[in-house]
Amino acid sequence: MTTGTATRLAGPPAAEAVIATASAQAAGLPTPPHLVIVRVGDDPASVSYVRGKAKKAGEAGLRSTVHALPEATPQADLLALVATLNADPDVHGILVQLPLPAHIAEEPVLEAIDPDKDVDGLHPVNVGRLWSGRPALAPCTPAGIMAMLAHYGVAVAGRRVVIVGRSRLVGRPLAGLMLAADATVTVAHSRTRDLAAITRSADILVAAVGRAHLITPDMVAPGAVVIDVGINRVVGEDGKSHLTGDVHPHVAAVASALTPVPGGVGPMTVAQLMANTVQAAERQRS
Ligand code: GUN
Repeated sequence: MTTGTATRLAGPPAAEAVIATASAQAAGLPTPPHLVIVRVGDDPASVSYVRGKAKKAGEAGLRSTVHALPEATPQADLLALVATLNADPDVHGILVQLPLPAHIAEEPVLEAIDPDKDVDGLHPVNVGRLWSGRPALAPCTPAGIMAMLAHYGVAVAGRRVVIVGRSRLVGRPLAGLMLAADATVTVAHSRTRDLAAITRSADILVAAVGRAHLITPDMVAPGAVVIDVGINRVVGEDGKSHLTGDVHPHVAAVASALTPVPGGVGPMTVAQLMANTVQAAERQRS
């Protein structure tokens, strides 16, 4: 099968554009926006993500502080830290890296964050603002996808968007953002019947499930734009472990445009975190 006809929507140039805008806005503020990231335990992926976020903040002209707490941190101590950060006028954005250790309940922690400092957009107040079509801090991955589509000139208004996956971090908030951008939105999930019939109806298809190569060429309408949010670690034919998306590579022969994995949506998440931190700092001034 021939592959490679789809335009490759690379993340880094779009991410750089988002960061350049955020940096310019940050430079116009009286003090650099300050992002505080809280990590609990030593999950290797979280350690790496948090390091990447802090590094990018520095490059973008933002300040960042990382609180790395031990795995055994009691929930009350984490809540106390969040309360201190909420009350500190020198802190503009707070991000508690997920997942948290099993003994800590996520909801009370996320709900403890001041909604105006909630750069993850996961506080119910921000979820509610998003779904009522009001300005809100929106989760970084879906907001980054919207920025990426805008960067590459992919129109959303009036288009049929199918999102496969209903997670709190991606599928649900992306549906809200797409609706706010005047798309006609369908959210498919693990209980959806005849998934292929629904995905084939999409002008813009977003795969955010976490199952390697779930989306095969027969599930994609010719000319569709396909956004692959999956990051799956698989062992290839060469016996080596590598990262792959939720979209089968042969979809490139059917789609008009496709995001690669890695190097597609991933960089947008970090870039959007910078944009959200600047937005949070601006909100706290007004
Ligand atoms: N873990 C994986 N992605 C994310 C994210 O966007 N925010 C937080 N807080 N944790 C994550």
